[in-house]
Amino acid sequence: MGASGEDRVAGRLAALSTEEKADLVAGEAIWTTKGFDSAGIPAIGVTDGPNGARGGGLLGTGTATACIPAGAVLGATWDPELVERLGGVLGDEARAKGCRVLLAPTINLHRNPLGGRNFECYSEDPILSGRVAAAFVRGVQSRGVATTPKHFVANDSEFERNSIDSQVDERTLRELYLVPFEYAVLEGCTWGVMSAYNRLNGTFCSENEWLLTQVLRHEWGFDGFVISDWFAARSTAASARAGLSLEMPGPGQWYNRGPIGEALAAGEMDEGHLDRIAGDVVRLLERTGAFDGDDRCVPGQEDKLDRLEDRALIRQAAAAGTVLVANNGVLPLDSAMSGTLAVIGPNARKAQIMGGGSATVQGYRNVSLMDALGDEHGHLDVSYAQGCDIERSLVALAAPMLKGKLQLEFYNGHDWSGPVVHANESASAELVFFGEPGPGVNPEAFSVRASGVLVAESTGEHTLGLVQLGRCRVQLDGEVVLDATEGDYDRGDDFFGMGSELISAPVQLTEGRETPIVIEYSSRDSFMLCGVRVGLKSQVKRDLLAEAVEAAADADAAVVVVGTNADWETEGRDRDSFDLPGDQPELIRRVAAANPNTVVVVNTGGACNLDWADDVAGVLVAGFGGQEMGYAVADVLFGQADPGGRMTMTVPARYEHSPAYLNYPGENGVVRYGEGLYIGHRWFDARAIEPAVPFGHGLSYASFEWSQPRVSGGGDAEVADPVVVEVDVVNTSDRPGSDVVQVFVEPPPSLLHRPVRELKGFAKVHLAPGEATTARIVLNRRAFAYYDSGDQSPPGLQIGNPVPAGESQKRTDAGWYVDPGTYTIWTARSSADLVDAVEVQLSG
Ligand code: BGC
Repeated sequence: MGASGEDRVAGRLAALSTEEKADLVAGEAIWTTKGFDSAGIPAIGVTDGPNGARGGGLLGTGTATACIPAGAVLGATWDPELVERLGGVLGDEARAKGCRVLLAPTINLHRNPLGGRNFECYSEDPILSGRVAAAFVRGVQSRGVATTPKHFVANDSEFERNSIDSQVDERTLRELYLVPFEYAVLEGCTWGVMSAYNRLNGTFCSENEWLLTQVLRHEWGFDGFVISDWFAARSTAASARAGLSLEMPGPGQWYNRGPIGEALAAGEMDEGHLDRIAGDVVRLLERTGAFDGDDRCVPGQEDKLDRLEDRALIRQAAAAGTVLVANNGVLPLDSAMSGTLAVIGPNARKAQIMGGGSATVQGYRNVSLMDALGDEHGHLDVSYAQGCDIERSLVALAAPMLKGKLQLEFYNGHDWSGPVVHANESASAELVFFGEPGPGVNPEAFSVRASGVLVAESTGEHTLGLVQLGRCRVQLDGEVVLDATEGDYDRGDDFFGMGSELISAPVQLTEGRETPIVIEYSSRDSFMLCGVRVGLKSQVKRDLLAEAVEAAADADAAVVVVGTNADWETEGRDRDSFDLPGDQPELIRRVAAANPNTVVVVNTGGACNLDWADDVAGVLVAGFGGQEMGYAVADVLFGQADPGGRMTMTVPARYEHSPAYLNYPGENGVVRYGEGLYIGHRWFDARAIEPAVPFGHGLSYASFEWSQPRVSGGGDAEVADPVVVEVDVVNTSDRPGSDVVQVFVEPPPSLLHRPVRELKGFAKVHLAPGEATTARIVLNRRAFAYYDSGDQSPPGLQIGNPVPAGESQKRTDAGWYVDPGTYTIWTARSSADLVDAVEVQLSG
């Protein structure tokens, strides 16, 4: 921020008393900061998150919003320019939801395939993640909305996430896990950063001075605010001294006039520490225009945008992030095919467009492949079979069994009586409330009646179930059929482990009949978080696998959409298994045996076992593609869009081949990053392990020819004179398409052990048939450097030891080093498909 901006910050700070400054550094409520009318300081709203700006809701409740593809799909686009435009959409949505801070992007790394939040994170690779993160930040902040790249740092798994101590050596931190944040700060110029829940080498991230001050502020020059993850603040003085600016959510437990006053009085922190962190909060308000008096961006005031151009961009991005892993020529399918297309799989009709947890939003829509085919390919003869179930636990009632939305009416008091004080709607029967559920609704005692219509998909016995945080009963056709308003129930693992066990009752339903459903929820007996999830499961026994095989056998081609859901891939717990859940692997094998033209679409957030891939004709990894996902998958299947994605993670042939396998998830409160630098492609190359799918792999429907790389610059590989790699790319096909030129650097033998090759740059090109362009990749000094922490052994260690020391060469000064020698620069289509090499001599 410029000098005049800093003067304004200093002036506003000077107008606040010590008590006001101490209050300012903690939130007011779950999604708002504190305002002081007397001092002209407004409260501002903050919102999750990485794939949409949710506004005041929680876990997918709240005002509808644009749902863009999840992080792993954004990473798979390898297209920072596209991601920047999507960031702009989220910036606009955040403001429409009354918020000036978007709690995103999530830029931890895919260290292990089972990471519960891998779907939110861009990739296994720090450079790819960093460039995409910087673009996302620029896009969001171009709308005057601050970002908070998260979770700083080494929060790469959900195992014991609130307390685990991630033990990571400094070199690994600096060469891998810190890098995406460094890009977000230096290239994205982020205004905020979110500190993680975990400990880093023994100290909680929110009070880690090395991390929040030494690295972030002193080395990278960050001058923004550090916001705690929700409830991640652990102390008052230690956090303030370390540089944690804002405790969230409010009201603060560690930061407010009480504890800060005591810490000041005890001399554990001084007024200077308080001024620094309060200044960070004022600077946030200044940067996001909160003092400009724009009354269209006010917490609690939420609008929907739902712009047609945003839908088009989201659709384009989902296709651009879809990876064509294998194709025997079956794809693209003929959009004028005269025979039947069998569409199979649990996710074909219910697209998983995002993962679970705090990233969940209520999208404007949720388009499945079946929806898209019905909507835009109505001329095709399509048959559908579910194939198998993949439920992990109770799934909330939603479309297609829920017809339209539930209409919610809120009452003050616990018993659904008196006037309706607020009304709302929900697309699913998962209702979650934290704080005030709506204007005028008393958060201490409220009740809500949700009315809608359900349409059963089979005739016979069903199980109606609920898990509650509070009290609930359910009516069907005007009769109470499930009543949990009285009685004691054990706890289950839903709602972050605070919800009840599953409570259920059998009900009889008729296929296709519209049945009125009323869910009555009361906040009685709840604490802090309130909510209920109601689900319905058919008990009618069907041989789902046999139905799918029959559909496939009768068809010209079969598309099997397999995947997970928000219960398998979510915040708070890692995935249970590398395999696709349920009978899906068996489903794929049987369908493929029945139909040689079987294409599998993988709808998971993180990597999963693809050991069936050789049995099928084509494989697309679509990820969690956002609200337009069904259209995008159809676009790619029928060749209306090129599959633009490239893998963001190496898929191991077996889970046991994963880099972190021996150091995951951790024990006795500690996870040791024992594999060090060797995650993702760095590991598979170093250990010569052949993966199922290499990092960076992805086919196009078009074909491209690349010239030999040309290299210029790099006299001393100084930033001022970087190495520039140029490759001419020609689209030699008769279709438009995109290609990604990847550049890996292979170092000479160095003083320290180094990965064989590392991704150091890339360029995505979009070319019309016959068109040519030059891909240009700039490699600065850091692309050739490694971090040496130096030998920090105490001096004189050898003195007095009669045994000769032996030869060793080492440095004592920590820092980035480029060893002299010949560096090989590879152009590549993936970490395993190296195309051409060119050598550069660096003098070190
Ligand atoms: C998550 C954050 C999120 C915050 C607020 C936490 O549980 O880890 O990513 O921004 O909640 O919802």
